[in-house]
Amino acid sequence: MSTLSRSTMLLLGTAFSIASGFDRPVIAVMSHPYNSTHEYMAASYVKYIESGGGRTLRVPFTANSTQIEEIYKQTSGLLFMGGAATLPQAARDLYALKVKGDESGDFYPMWGTCLGFEWINQLVGEDDSIIDGMFSAENISLALDFTDAISGSRAFPEDGIVADLAGNYEITMNMHEHGVATEDFLANELLTDTFNLISTNDDLDGKNFVSTIESKSADKAIYATQWHPEKNNFEYGAVDNDKAYLSTSHSAEAVRLSFELAAFFVGEARKSDHVFEGNLKLAINERTGVLEETSFEERYVFLN
Ligand SMILES: *[C@@H]1O[C@H](CO)[C@@H](O)[C@H](O)[C@H]1NC(C)=O
Ligand SMILES: *[C@@H]1O[C@H](CO)[C@@H](O)[C@H](O)[C@H]1NC(C)=O
Ligand SMILES: *[C@@H]1O[C@H](CO)[C@@H](O)[C@H](O)[C@H]1NC(C)=O
Repeated sequence: MSTLSRSTMLLLGTAFSIASGFDRPVIAVMSHPYNSTHEYMAASYVKYIESGGGRTLRVPFTANSTQIEEIYKQTSGLLFMGGAATLPQAARDLYALKVKGDESGDFYPMWGTCLGFEWINQLVGEDDSIIDGMFSAENISLALDFTDAISGSRAFPEDGIVADLAGNYEITMNMHEHGVATEDFLANELLTDTFNLISTNDDLDGKNFVSTIESKSADKAIYATQWHPEKNNFEYGAVDNDKAYLSTSHSAEAVRLSFELAAFFVGEARKSDHVFEGNLKLAINERTGVLEETSFEERYVFLN
């Protein structure tokens, strides 16, 4: 092959990869309030996205609509992390942009974990009290009880490795009191129109909650888990001699599940045409410090 034709092929390759998505996807992750001067992100979410081949850009909890528009434009997808914060206006604004984009054929995948799962139920269900079911599901690892909707699932293909791991091993880590009761989910038409209910679980008192949902539409690409796929790879409770979170599985199966889901979500983001232009600071460049704690192995902190 001549040099010329090889460079022509490279050019074609570049053009092709841009036309079909951006192969250096940056995922927007909203930070949560820490104290009056700082916000934080649990480092596990950043590392989780990195393990799947993506990078993260922070969405400030108090971002205004101008910031939100810029972040939306330059990120290939959105992750709402777990934690303890009330759904902020910035999250509503970003979701509204996604909905508008979806209507015009734009592709912007979205994932919610734990509190992020709850936010997605509030946003899509247009009901802030949908998460008011109270459960005894803190610090426990469960095997998912899949529904029939698993046939046709994109994130948990039936008979695939991900469904095998999540359904047959007690490795999905739950850390929540709030949650969406399965009966409340099924009674909300906005939720049942948008999502397939992929799995449910019983809490320690036998109360049934929604554990995994996935948008029916592949183009909407919304995924949410009440449980924590990022913890298996990145949270140990190490500050407390590895003992505080012994319930988080680090088995080969758990670590594989965590990786597969990270790769899946970043894979979705690769299909987005949004391009990170490099003029905004990525979370790992913007952070002003790293705190070691028990509940999160590390928190990255940011100036408000
Ligand atoms: C908030 O936390 C950060 C990180 O630990 C610290 O540097 C800062 O001084 C704290 N701010 C206040 C007002 O306590
Ligand atoms: C939005 O926030 C940015 C960054 O803090 C600021 O520079 C800008 O003036 C704000 N815009 C509006 C319309 O408030
Ligand atoms: C979590 O559960 C483990 C046992 O699985 C226990 O050893 C640990 O103390 C619990 N941690 C918290 C913070 O409740």
